[in-house]
Amino acid sequence: MPDRRSFLKTSALGAAAAPILLDGCTPDSGETPESDARSETGVRPVALSTWDHGLAANDAAWPILTGGGSALDAVEAGVRISEADPTVTSVGYGGRPDRFGRVTLDACIMDERGRCGSVAFLQHIMHPISVARQVMEKTPHVMIVGQGALDFALANGFEREDLLHPDAAAAWERWKEENGEVTPRIDVNNHDTIGMLAVDQAGNLSGACTTSGAAFKYHGRVGDSPIIGAGLYVDNEVGGATATGWGEAVIRAVGCFLVVELMRQGHTPQAACELAVERVIEKNPDWRSIQVGFLALGKNGDHGSFCIAPGFNYALHAPDEGNQLIDSGSRI
Ligand code: GLY
Repeated sequence: MPDRRSFLKTSALGAAAAPILLDGCTPDSGETPESDARSETGVRPVALSTWDHGLAANDAAWPILTGGGSALDAVEAGVRISEADPTVTSVGYGGRPDRFGRVTLDACIMDERGRCGSVAFLQHIMHPISVARQVMEKTPHVMIVGQGALDFALANGFEREDLLHPDAAAAWERWKEENGEVTPRIDVNNHDTIGMLAVDQAGNLSGACTTSGAAFKYHGRVGDSPIIGAGLYVDNEVGGATATGWGEAVIRAVGCFLVVELMRQGHTPQAACELAVERVIEKNPDWRSIQVGFLALGKNGDHGSFCIAPGFNYALHAPDEGNQLIDSGSRI
């Protein structure tokens, strides 16, 4: 008789194995990157990222995944693109500052071994995701914040930079003139965060999540994105999940841990995201004025997403499907 763990693995694969396990009949022509995606184990890699800036993130991750690299390397490389892009106004350089005009960044990363690292309230470092990875790999800790995170980054070779882009500074000036006190909620007009999940050719999962957080937030405010279990969770036996939206609401529901646990119970990634959005709604009476979205990737490459209000989209790159932007379903 199978034990519970092997039963769950078997049932999850049985439900959706077709898209991910190759039949071994299709010859590899060796002519296209897509054919390179096929591994000896028959596992196809998948890259999944929140929002339209996820397309560029997936593009950076794809050569790593199809070249036999790790999902961990792929998600780090992917989200670094958004972190360095000044046109992405919710992540890294280009991110909107807090109410004092300071850009403070949050990020976390988690791999197939259950290792995780996180930084929060980090200033002056363009790539918080890479600092989070070093926290994971070089320290006995999971999370380092604020000045300690900056000191750690500088001691580990990261460069100190001014991250307040002129466009972000102008937006801050406008905010001060127009309302000055109120931190806008993250809603359908005001999106945020890149969360990225990947499965590699070895069938291993990793995830990354990085953000500048809520625009014009209180100084020191930290959202869900650097909190393992809230903004990101990966369990290599089951799948991974990442979140976007109003972080306070995601934290209250421990959103991504919930999505993965629902998948462990046998729910598809899609059903798990939908149930997690319902939980967020239950825990947040103000849910109609905020946006929260979840993105999930099963161990078998099956994926799902769901959000409160229309407008959330995500980028999926899978062999033979290319890199495409998909609209998420929504509760409203
Ligand atoms: N979801 C990002 C944040 O609330 O900071």
